[in-house]
Amino acid sequence: MKVIHLSVECFPVAKVGGLADVVGALPKYQCSMGIDASVVMPWFDRPFLQNHETISVGSGSIEQGGERFDYEVLKEQGDSLGFPLYFIHIPGKLDRPEVYCYPDEAEQWIAFQHAFLDYLHNQEVLPDVVHCHDHHVGLVPFLLQYSTAYSERLSIIKTVFTVHNGQYQGWMTWDKGALLPAFDSWKWGLLDWDGLINPLAAAIKCCTAYTTVSEGYLLELYAEANGLQNLFKMESGKAEGIVNGIDEAFWNPETDPSIEKNYTVSTVRSGKNTNKKSLGKAYGMDFSKPLIAFVGRFASEKGADLLPEIIDEIFANTNEEFCVFILGSGDEEISQQLEARKARYEGRLATFFGYNEELAHRVYASADLLLMPSRVEPCGLNQLYAMKYGTIPIVRGIGGLRDTVLDVENEGGYGFVFEEPDAVDAAAAVIRALHMITDKKRVDQIRKRMMKLDYSWEQSAIKYEKLYNRLVEQIL
Ligand code: ADP
Ligand code: GLC
Repeated sequence: MKVIHLSVECFPVAKVGGLADVVGALPKYQCSMGIDASVVMPWFDRPFLQNHETISVGSGSIEQGGERFDYEVLKEQGDSLGFPLYFIHIPGKLDRPEVYCYPDEAEQWIAFQHAFLDYLHNQEVLPDVVHCHDHHVGLVPFLLQYSTAYSERLSIIKTVFTVHNGQYQGWMTWDKGALLPAFDSWKWGLLDWDGLINPLAAAIKCCTAYTTVSEGYLLELYAEANGLQNLFKMESGKAEGIVNGIDEAFWNPETDPSIEKNYTVSTVRSGKNTNKKSLGKAYGMDFSKPLIAFVGRFASEKGADLLPEIIDEIFANTNEEFCVFILGSGDEEISQQLEARKARYEGRLATFFGYNEELAHRVYASADLLLMPSRVEPCGLNQLYAMKYGTIPIVRGIGGLRDTVLDVENEGGYGFVFEEPDAVDAAAAVIRALHMITDKKRVDQIRKRMMKLDYSWEQSAIKYEKLYNRLVEQIL
């Protein structure tokens, strides 16, 4: 079975969020199962590419809106990530430091997808499956079927499309249609949704199968998907929810090189204390009290705008001892509101505004509780990492959070789940957790339970393999 994953993020080359973690891990687990899995991503101007050798394995040129762009395909030598990794280099279009937020993003992703098809078309051996991740590569299932230059040879390839986030759909106005590789114009309707080119909608219509990153999120998409709910429902016959896993090579408190003290299930209490002390020292804080953390993008999906109010609510409604550490980046307004609270709650609130991979590891290893007040959470990896590090999650019951966190009120429970994405409900759950956290015996028992949960990639990789097999054997 030969599978190519197509994505614009892949850890550690280019990471903005969990998409990178998934694409940087799943192919490695697939390779170890005997699948010939590789990743193709854009060549960005990132440190990884300065520190790793690549060799040229193909080149060509594509035309976009009357302009010609040369492309080169480079392969990382040594397969250092545990799978073959290919980069599409398009000078002037993709060779930039950031993954997102350029004004010509639509042109960038069209060029990436076009060059990928052109390269694939020249390959002697074709993959059985192209596995596309999120809307940036959502035009590929359509173009494999209907592009004039490529479909005759490439339409036999099966496509899996994984929805990591259905909120973003890659909408473009129809004038951008002229930038796409030539396609069968009778099929334009497959690209369209409500008068715009919608790459996510096109992917759901044209892929052989689509998956979501948790079962719960799939059901949620049928009810609300930023306008695409009916489409998701209509195509539900080819849908499956497969929860993400943890890459234990990077996320394991026993071996993690980023943390001060490694620990196991039996040494978690002392290990966490040492890590907490070291983090507290770095921030001039005394973290000997229960530590509540938040790690994530400051975006409304994450409920990050609720954080200032949640903090106020907790301070106003409990006398329990605690401190808070917030690691995040994004919306400036949220950073400012949190900054203002640092003076109000002096010595109790620490923040780091920015992206810091190493610090994220230290926070999961130090915190007692991890708060995720998400409005939307297709899977969520933070709660999985937290649990692996013996950190009790406090989550809004949505998407993957509901699927992976069982409230302590239930038999065998190990987390705190609240229903409404508002400060009152979130703070009530935090206070419930703070009441429990002083019960050392209970906490030890819960930590043990969480750390032994199996959220490794193996289980999910098997589900993907079964799906690929069904597609190739044409059972779906
Ligand atoms: P999403 O992809 O929606 O942002 P996930 O929970 O799937 O959410 O994944 C988030 C990933 O990004 C995790 O690996 C988390 O540790 C990491 N992360 C988020 N914000 C930061 C940050 N400011 N610094 C370091 N890592 C971060
Ligand atoms: C998206 C989702 C997140 C998920 C990640 C990886 O960014 O917001 O919930 O964990 O993709 O699938």
